[in-house]
Amino acid sequence: MDRYLVFGHPVRHSKSPFIHTLFARQTQQELEYGLAEPAVDEFAHALQVFFAQGGKGCNVTVPFKEQAFTLVDRLSPRAKRAGAVNTIKLTDDGVLLGDNTDGAGLVADLKSHGVTLADSRILLLGAGGAARGALAPLLAELPSELVIANRTHTKAQQLATEFHDLGPVTAQTYEQLAGPFDLVINSTSASLQGELPPLAPALIHTDIAIYDMMYGASDTAFISWAKQHGARQTMDGLGMLVEQAAEAFTVWRGIRPGTKQVLRELKRNLGVI
Ligand code: ATR
Repeated sequence: MDRYLVFGHPVRHSKSPFIHTLFARQTQQELEYGLAEPAVDEFAHALQVFFAQGGKGCNVTVPFKEQAFTLVDRLSPRAKRAGAVNTIKLTDDGVLLGDNTDGAGLVADLKSHGVTLADSRILLLGAGGAARGALAPLLAELPSELVIANRTHTKAQQLATEFHDLGPVTAQTYEQLAGPFDLVINSTSASLQGELPPLAPALIHTDIAIYDMMYGASDTAFISWAKQHGARQTMDGLGMLVEQAAEAFTVWRGIRPGTKQVLRELKRNLGVI
């Protein structure tokens, strides 16, 4: 049977096996999908062993995405832009192809929630790996403006410069931000420490869409905060998780699984509904 897995550290709580097993059942593909948690300095070796032993493909998550970028034989254009690899496929001619499906997953999830990206004013919070992966797919949707704000302003400036050729992207400090924005995407890891990005509450209005790439069994700190300040449409990153997985499954198997039912089952599994 074709073997796939996700590499991460820690990875025990990953939902990827759950999601891909449902995709496989739905599309009647014979495959198994597991977990691997190598020590941080053993990832390269573990990856090599997995493919030497017949593995067909894998996902890569924190903290290995940047390392995976350097270990594959070939990169897709979107992985090259993202500077990180979250999906690897062993091609029929034995080439390890590195791809990145995170940004496509974000855009697919935003669209599935009915969020309009074309001609919209988007505020992206954070300038780390998650923000980098989102930039090209967001700019491909032709927003009127995309502003990056980050605690360390120079990192936002660097990203804006790097992606400038793809669309109207600028960097502003949190203090400089002037609304109205149509969509705010939180790509920061602030929620992991129970913190909030230092965004002025005045930027939140009833018609704004709020997206947090993080997710949990209850509202993330950022989503709670946005709701308190009047946001009516809030979305967490669970949909993005399922959509990026669907994109990876499509890369591997050449068949696109449906996501709606899988997202519902995942929510039930997490106790969200
Ligand atoms: P990821 O790969 O998830 O993007 P990362 O590359 O470590 O992780 O980036 C984390 C992002 O969250 C950074 O933009 C970071 O800001 P700095 O560049 O200033 O470090 C941002 N971040 C983390 N904690 C934050 C906080 N409490 N408030 C605001 N931004 C925060």
